[in-house]
Amino acid sequence: MIAVIIKDYSDFFGSFPKFMSNKNPIGIFDSGLGGLTVFREIERALPYEDIVYFGDTARLPYGSKSKDTIMRFSTENILFLLKKKVKLVVVACNTSSSFALDYFKNIFTVPVLGVIKAGVDKALKLSKTQRIGVIATKSTIASARYKKELLDCDKNVIVYSKACPLFVPLVEEGVFTGKIVDGAVNMYLKSLKGKVDTLILGCTHYPLLKTAISGYLKGVYLIDSAKEVSLRVRMILEENNLLNNTKRKPKKEFYVTDKPREFMKSAKIFLKKEISRPKVVNV
Ligand code: DGL
Repeated sequence: MIAVIIKDYSDFFGSFPKFMSNKNPIGIFDSGLGGLTVFREIERALPYEDIVYFGDTARLPYGSKSKDTIMRFSTENILFLLKKKVKLVVVACNTSSSFALDYFKNIFTVPVLGVIKAGVDKALKLSKTQRIGVIATKSTIASARYKKELLDCDKNVIVYSKACPLFVPLVEEGVFTGKIVDGAVNMYLKSLKGKVDTLILGCTHYPLLKTAISGYLKGVYLIDSAKEVSLRVRMILEENNLLNNTKRKPKKEFYVTDKPREFMKSAKIFLKKEISRPKVVNV
């Protein structure tokens, strides 16, 4: 094994095996569709990488499940991606990243990167008042992982956390704007209005509600972890000479545990393009 050069990510663990080639794909997993926001950004930042995306559509949502269950599901998902010979696993799901990453520390044969620290670092960089909001699923908020990461970096930060459980089903239904979204945004974000200057969108689905959220919290920086994590993936691969720069059309494979047709339909809304038909697998 060779040592990973980047050491200051608290949600990045493991080392690249010596035999790893830059031609191996990047693996991404999420509880379902939401991780496509991370897929989309990784695709943009790393246009020549092959990507294997795994969505655990049979067992979602993770955001209301217990720590033990989330850890078990997440471990199974990573083991599946390892069979696809990925060079790096990106845990796109914030709920999995919140609970399972410490447990994943150095137990897999390739490095595992979560989405929490990338968003935290960006929020700390942008915030001028050190009053930062975090919105996420119930389980992510209950884990207090974002809060801990923020305070570990800067103990003077005041963190306002809010679970927004209705945001996920709205996005899953393809409802991103309009009266119902505005009502949910008002209900959840009322308590943050005027208090924070930066808001971390701590859930895969929330970047799709950016228009509604920024309309409500005018002037507040919205942190899209997906974008930040894609830059981090790029940096990690570059620093370890594992970036695939061969100019060609890369391969994108999709795997789900249920409902491939629905996944494909929603993927078209998320990515604004067609994807190849996902294969259904059991993990
Ligand atoms: N992917 C989850 C997350 O980012 C949201 C959807 C779910 O609850 O499974 O936390």
